[in-house]
Amino acid sequence: MPLVRRKEGDTLIVLGPGVVNDLRHLLRELGGTRPYLVTGPHLADGPVGARVRGALGDGLVGTYSRSRPHVPEQTAQEVAQEARALRADALVGLGGGSPIGTAKAASFRLQELRGSSPGPACFVAAVPTTYAGSEVTPVFGTTDLERGRKSVIRSEPIRPRLALYDPELALDTPSDLSASTGVNALAHCVEGLYSREAGEAERAMALRAAGRILEYLPRSVKEPKNLLYRYRMFEGSMEAGLVLANAGMGVHHGLCHVLGGRTNAPHGVLNGIILPYAMRFNLPIAGRAYRELAPLLGVRVSDKGDTALGENVCEATAGFIRSLGLPGRLRDLGIPRADLPSMAEEALESKSVRANPRPVTARDALDILEAAW
Ligand SMILES: [Fe+2]
Repeated sequence: MPLVRRKEGDTLIVLGPGVVNDLRHLLRELGGTRPYLVTGPHLADGPVGARVRGALGDGLVGTYSRSRPHVPEQTAQEVAQEARALRADALVGLGGGSPIGTAKAASFRLQELRGSSPGPACFVAAVPTTYAGSEVTPVFGTTDLERGRKSVIRSEPIRPRLALYDPELALDTPSDLSASTGVNALAHCVEGLYSREAGEAERAMALRAAGRILEYLPRSVKEPKNLLYRYRMFEGSMEAGLVLANAGMGVHHGLCHVLGGRTNAPHGVLNGIILPYAMRFNLPIAGRAYRELAPLLGVRVSDKGDTALGENVCEATAGFIRSLGLPGRLRDLGIPRADLPSMAEEALESKSVRANPRPVTARDALDILEAAW
């Protein structure tokens, strides 16, 4: 397991077992001497939180341990205010997409506060323990809990300056969380492959990452304590995240965001339910993408034509997701069928839905949701 250190735009990426021990030093390299740790209650009180706090040493100015799924706006506000009061100069998001998203959202709020009265600059660093990929993207979502609406914002200044992947920190990540966030990473590859924004570099990266995920996610779910499997999955989820950052997403992610805002169901679990149906919707425009994915999914490329092949690829993806033991239908999450039409309407406002290479009508969005219900 070689130590990886590479720069992607403004993000320094460090991957390897034990690299968390360098966290304080790496933050210093980037100008952060007063880090504020942002994480969830489970990690904060466990050995992972203790290890990261230990690595930050007496430089750590405080810990916020109440990050929540889909980042309620209130939470982002709280973190921003506390970070400002503590004169933090780095927000270190530790955990999955939620704490890292919370750190980004708080950094965004801090910039707004700085606009009105000057305060210290505060950059984001991310230490992931799942495969959600947020650590390398300039994107975050916040949720207005009263309205049940998730908004997704893209802002370059909140792109993490450091993404530190230590597979040792992922050994305690529960298998269901690994499975759902791993499928989210796979969805970043699939949506990147059929995105209009993807160039050849992104496509190559998406295929490489998808290969890693398809090979190592089932193993990492079955043997959560295997360090090599965690390392390989981080290689995959990191590149899947870079694909998301560079190529943008489509109808699948747009629908998952609406569903997440409305129901608070985890993003990764929603990904597992929606992905095969969104892929099927995109069949007419995804010939090349699915042809390239086919061998990675064990689908034989024959001369039957793109439609038959594409259908097999969608079926194989559904089978892969089922094999991980994730919920298969929206009804399994307790979502009432009667809510689907208004969600389909709302989806049309999503930037990701509008960026989908095949135009999406409200009827199309409803058909996908109905099929997944
Ligand atoms: Fe995602």
